Amino acid sequence: MQQRRPLMAGNWKMYKTADEAAQTAQQLVERVAGVTGVDIMIAPTYTALVPVFEVIQNSPVALGAQNLFWEDDGAYTGEISAPMLKSVGCQYGIIGHSERRQYFGETDETVNKKIQAALQVGLKPVFCVGETEEERASEQTLSVLDKQVKKGLEGLVSDQLDTLIIAYEPVWAIGTGKTATDDQAQEVHQFIRSLVEKNFGTALSNSIRILYGGSVKPDNVAGLMSMPDIDGALVGGASLDAESFSKIIKY
Ligand code: PGA
Repeated sequence: MQQRRPLMAGNWKMYKTADEAAQTAQQLVERVAGVTGVDIMIAPTYTALVPVFEVIQNSPVALGAQNLFWEDDGAYTGEISAPMLKSVGCQYGIIGHSERRQYFGETDETVNKKIQAALQVGLKPVFCVGETEEERASEQTLSVLDKQVKKGLEGLVSDQLDTLIIAYEPVWAIGTGKTATDDQAQEVHQFIRSLVEKNFGTALSNSIRILYGGSVKPDNVAGLMSMPDIDGALVGGASLDAESFSKIIKY
């Protein structure tokens, strides 16, 4: 079986001013110096991308955006495009985070357009999927994920998806302190990998990285990472502090 390189990604959400973000990034760079064998990404707010990039550019830490718009440019007040993000040093773009689906009207269709836009300019999409508490309670988890993956990747073919990363984030586990158990997460990751295999073939399903997200902390990361289909973590709260995020990175 193919070895997949783990990715530890920090989603800083709407936290930290530009100065605060640069400071945390600096602390992180110091703590992960010499770490090998794992990819590291942080996604600060848009206003902190440039100052954070200045701090991390010669380090193992890569830059990501929390969102993007699908057009390259135009009269879209308040939006930011994939080429713009690329131009300030972003390598990754988080797409379809549940908070964007929940509060900002993102749908599988807009997520699909954003994934295409990211791929077009060589930004690696971190495509987020996950079920709500009600969906899990009514045993719809797998059908919800099936639909999100299928629609999110509609019109794309496996050759285009080399850099795609999927993040499984059960909505009920985000920011709640409730983590899926290692086995619950593994079951879903395995299912998502099987969906990728069904739709895009074995080569992609073997190589694609599937991250777990939802209350990942220094004390639960090792268990999650011991699961065969979990290839990293998308971390919110615990990534805001350099010490705790570096512990996660060095699980
Ligand atoms: P959390 O957030 O780690 O604070 O639960 C994860 C995420 O929303 O990506």
